[in-house]
Formats: sequence, structure tokens, C-alpha cells
Amino acid sequence: MGHAEPQVATAPAAADAQARQPYWMPFSPNKEFKAEPKMFARAKGMYFYTPEGKEVIDASAGLFCVAAGHCREEIASAVYEQLQTLDFTAPFLRAHGKAFELAERVTQYTPKGLNRVFFVNSGSEAVDTAMKIALAYHRVKGQPQRQMFVSRERAYHGVNLGGVALAGMVNNRRTFGLGLAGVHHMRHTALPQNKFVKGQPEHGADLADDLLRFCNLYGGENIAACFVEPTAGSFGCLPPPKGYLNRLREICNQHGILLVFDEVITGWGRMGAPFGAQAFGVTPDLLTMAKAITNGAQPMGAVAARQDIYDDITSAGPAKGVEFFHGYTYSAHPASCAAGLAMMDIFAKEKLMERAAAMSPKFIDAIHSLQDCTVVTDIRSVGLMAAVDVAVDGTPGARGHEAQKRLYDAGLNLKSTGDALIVAPPFVMDDRHLDEIVSKLRGVLKGL
Ligand SMILES: Cc1ncc(COP(=O)(O)O)c(C=O)c1O
Repeated sequence: MGHAEPQVATAPAAADAQARQPYWMPFSPNKEFKAEPKMFARAKGMYFYTPEGKEVIDASAGLFCVAAGHCREEIASAVYEQLQTLDFTAPFLRAHGKAFELAERVTQYTPKGLNRVFFVNSGSEAVDTAMKIALAYHRVKGQPQRQMFVSRERAYHGVNLGGVALAGMVNNRRTFGLGLAGVHHMRHTALPQNKFVKGQPEHGADLADDLLRFCNLYGGENIAACFVEPTAGSFGCLPPPKGYLNRLREICNQHGILLVFDEVITGWGRMGAPFGAQAFGVTPDLLTMAKAITNGAQPMGAVAARQDIYDDITSAGPAKGVEFFHGYTYSAHPASCAAGLAMMDIFAKEKLMERAAAMSPKFIDAIHSLQDCTVVTDIRSVGLMAAVDVAVDGTPGARGHEAQKRLYDAGLNLKSTGDALIVAPPFVMDDRHLDEIVSKLRGVLKGL
């Protein structure tokens, strides 16, 4: 006997049945959603379609993933073909050609010197992998005491326990405790003087000196790495103040601390250059990426490392044994590599990152035009990402939550965090799509 098709209710009468459904949704209000589901059945280009066939414009590239627009045939066929040729091979002690090929292609875009690539399956895994690389590196360099990490308030570094310890979003830490001891948080850079600034704000470079304070307090020689998103994404688009990342780089150099850029959102063109590192002119020692590397069509993440970090770790290992005890069953999965390679072709053929950079000024102006909506308290923007803050209504996050519910009915999809509505469209957006996003967002903001 076959399984019954899952029932997707659209009528309130079915709310009870929905509430009893087994699917436990991540990062979602399960009870509320199941009583009033907001489903997508298919997608193409800039649009999602509801089961009833209603068009919903995707203003957040899924979740910052779908840079090339939805359902790209080139990626779908590459994955289909790969699954019929070599569906799986263990990534430990065995490999397939596409893993090597994709690593090579990725290094054509990573900042100079970061030319060794460790594949994982998500941004969260990339973050924890980067933490482990940092610890392993210092150990082989004779500094095993470097066990502390520094990150920042209002940062998001995924959901694994290492990343949760690094992250600075309270709801991601509250339930699970600290995760790891020895993680210290610099202050965030959302200053009142920086409100409604387009691009990098003028104020706040001195906040990087928080890292110096930790060096003085705990001993810089005990800190393994400093993790930052070049622009905080999930928290609501916080571009780095001018000079801020340069200052972090200087302090890391002075104290032998590895600087890690978490580029899970900012990578692959979102900042107007391949990575935030190039957009802001600062090169980290390790760089994490995920999401748009496969256009979101297959789960994949990666850590790009400086070559000498790789060399030091591998040469310190046994002549014939494993050098770095870390990896995932699905690291460099053949289907993900096939999707990644197809995406690299799209990036090159369609000059997609250049297109994002060219669209940025118009995008930023359009989003900032929403400043006249009375409910809007701040707008921040850089590259092809912006966040619109709405005024707190009683409980922080309540108004953002209400906005999120209304967006679906308004035919607009975007990510929100608390009271920040984050716009990060696919790079295939054209003027008409931008107009549609802004006018639908205006409608939602006016009704709040
Ligand atoms: C900067 C950053 N790091 C890590 C992650 C976690 O990625 P994933 O959800 O793929 O595990 C995210 C997700 O948005 C992110 O924005």
C-alpha cells in the first residue's frame, strides 16, 4: 500500500489536522504555521508559486542562496546526470574528479592566497570546520594554548554548537547555553550615528579595538581566531564601518590571531565583488562560504584557507596517515559538486557577479526610498543586500513577525530577523522586478 499524499491545508477548518502533522519545522513558529500554512509549490526565475498558483516575488534569493534565479536547467541537468553516473563515493580515502575541479574553480574567485578548499554541506559546518582548522593550525605551530575565539554581538554563525557559541543573537544562544567556553564578543557596529547610511558607515572603526582589549585582558597569545561576517547578514545587514575590517586585520597580525571571514551570505557576489574580502579590501586567513555556491540547489559549503595553513597542517601529519581528523560523509558530494560547477559556469557566462555590482546603486536608492514610511526606523544597505527596520511595537520582533505573515499575502518573499526586513534578491533581478519588490514592500510597511 502506498503512502498517502501529505495533506496541505489552506482552509482554517483544517487547522487542527495541520497542527498534528509530524513535520517539525526549523526556525519557524510551528503552531502558527500549521494553523495557517504559507506554502510554495514551485519556483522559476524571480518567482515562487503557491499551491494555488499565485505568484510571489522572491526578494531574498530563497535565503541568500539563489543568486542565479530559481530552477536553473543547467544545474538541474548537471545534478541529474551526476546522480546517474556516480551518485556517491566516500570522501575519505576516495575522491571523484569534480571535487578537485570545483576546488580549482572556487579558487579563481577567492582572495589571493586562499587557495585550499575544504568542502562541507552547510554554512554551519563551514564555521565549525574553520574553528577546527584554526585550532589545528596553532597546535602544529607549537601554540596549542590558543583556544579562545573572538566574535561579535549580533553575529550569526550558524547553528552547530561552535557557531552558536560564536554567534551573538540572543535567541540562538539562550536555550543552548554558551556551547563553548572561551568565546568573547566584541560590540556590534549598529550605531545611532549610522542610521539610514547607504553603504559603509563613517562611524565605528574604533569598535575593532574591542579585539585589542581582549588581547590585553586574556593575552593575545591565547586567542586562536577572530570570526566576523564582513557585513552582518542575518542580523539585518550591518556593513562594516570604514576602516573597521582593516583595523581587525592589523590587530590579528600583531597578535598572531587568525582572521576568519564568515562569508556564507556575503560570498559569491552579494557585496558587489566575489567576496566581501575583495569588496572591502581586507584579506582574511580563512573564509567560509555556502548558499550561492550551488545556487542553493544542493547543500554545500566550504572553507577556503591560506595555502601555508594547509601546508603546515598537512606536513606536520604522519607521512602516510590522516593529517586533519575532520570531514563529513557528504563532504564534496558528487551531486553538490556537479551543481557547484554548473553554477561556476553560470557566474562566468552571465557575468552574474558583475551584474549584481552594476545593479547595486539603483537597488540601494530604491530601498532607501522607503525611508518615508512612518514605521521605518532605519535602512542599511550594501551591494545587493539591504535591511529595513520597523519600529518596535510592544515586544521586540512582534511587528517584524506581523510583517512576515503579511508578506506572503502581498506576494513578496523576504527574510526577516526580529524587526528587520532583509532584502537580498537574486542577481537576475531587473528594473521591473525591483519596482515590484519596492512597491509591494511599501504596501506592507504602510499597513503595519
Ligand atoms: C554568516 C552565516 N554563517 C553561517 C550560516 C549558517 O549556514 P547554514 O544555515 O547553511 O548552516 C549562515 C546562514 O545564514 C550565515 O548567514
